[in-house]
Amino acid sequence: MTIDKYVLLPYQIKIMRVAVVGATGMVGEVMLKVLAERNFPISELFLVASERSIGKEISFKGETYKVIGLNDAVAAKPDIALFSAGGSTSLEWAPKFAEAGTTVIDNSSAWRMDANKKLVVPEINASNITAEDKIIANPNCSTIQMVMALAPLHLKYKIKRVVISTYQSITGTGVKAVQQLENEYAGEKGEMAYPYPIHRNALPHCDVFEENGYTKEELKLVRETQKILDDRTISLTATAVRVPVAGGHSESVNVEFENNFELSELRNILNETDGVVVQDNTDVNTYPMPIYAEGKDDVFVGRIRRDHSQPNTLNMWIVADNLRKGAATNAVQIAEYLVSENIIKPSLSEV
Ligand SMILES: NC(=O)c1ccc[n+]([C@@H]2O[C@H](COP(=O)([O-])OP(=O)(O)OC[C@H]3O[C@@H](n4cnc5c(N)ncnc54)[C@H](OP(=O)(O)O)[C@@H]3O)[C@@H](O)[C@H]2O)c1
Repeated sequence: MTIDKYVLLPYQIKIMRVAVVGATGMVGEVMLKVLAERNFPISELFLVASERSIGKEISFKGETYKVIGLNDAVAAKPDIALFSAGGSTSLEWAPKFAEAGTTVIDNSSAWRMDANKKLVVPEINASNITAEDKIIANPNCSTIQMVMALAPLHLKYKIKRVVISTYQSITGTGVKAVQQLENEYAGEKGEMAYPYPIHRNALPHCDVFEENGYTKEELKLVRETQKILDDRTISLTATAVRVPVAGGHSESVNVEFENNFELSELRNILNETDGVVVQDNTDVNTYPMPIYAEGKDDVFVGRIRRDHSQPNTLNMWIVADNLRKGAATNAVQIAEYLVSENIIKPSLSEV
């Protein structure tokens, strides 16, 4: 176990009893990979899914674990529960874990816009978290990658308005959608995650439609960005599109600032932002793409150029692996912050 950043005293190591709720899903699987890669200090691991998966075996760091149900997981009172099991599961079960003393980091949309819950991208606003926060919300995948690039630019130039078009991976819809695309490639019939074929198609429809004509996904981009950047004066509008891509989400983002900018300075700001990688050299066809973002934790920004149709306005193209920085990595980074800042009281072991 790598212990450097978790060391308390020479003879004590912070160790965590961790539950992964939704361990059999797309995000859950990546969550386990990220926990292992980052050597998160786990003393006991509880893998949780729906009743239909109880008893299923999953391996983690060479050991085999049996999937358990939510009741058994709450009774175990883990220190941290990483939830990615859908909104209704979170609404019902996150408070039960919180009551048992567990800190929940939730990937669903259930708690994101709750005024009493923190919506956290660690590079931007982890310092808002306190020990009282027993349910912490992980933002939507499309929002996370966008605010990673917007936050440092907002600090410097103050954002007025953002126009977003997304090109979102099928992995954002979970295992059912990946199966739909695989079936369509193979020319086989099967369960449909979308109302139409996704193979050789683009669906201007991510999540459900609201009465105002926008999809929930589009409104998440608007509301979550305002909450994370802590600025309700920013105007945003979005069109979210599902494309037959597996490696990550791409976004065309047009940003109008209050203040003018020098492109070279703006590029430097992005270059110096932790977690952001500028890939932008059109001379040699360098720009972010999901096939290169897949499996990586960074957010890639390219096609950075001035929008000449109006003052103080920028175009950029932002790509990230929605299952990693858009979900699992961001959640694990929050957990790491809770540990390293002593925000949760972990189980202690003598070594
Ligand atoms: N995919 C992304 O890029 C992404 C990004 C950010 C956030 N999210 C959010 O993360 C959550 C999971 O997404 P996903 O893509 O991983 O979906 P998924 O592949 O469909 O997996 C869903 C997981 O939730 C479990 N689950 C479903 N109903 C349950 C219940 N009643 N009790 C306990 N566990 C239950 C499933 O267990 P079984 O296998 O037993 O059914 C499975 O482990 C969603 O809320 C989604 O909005 C996803």
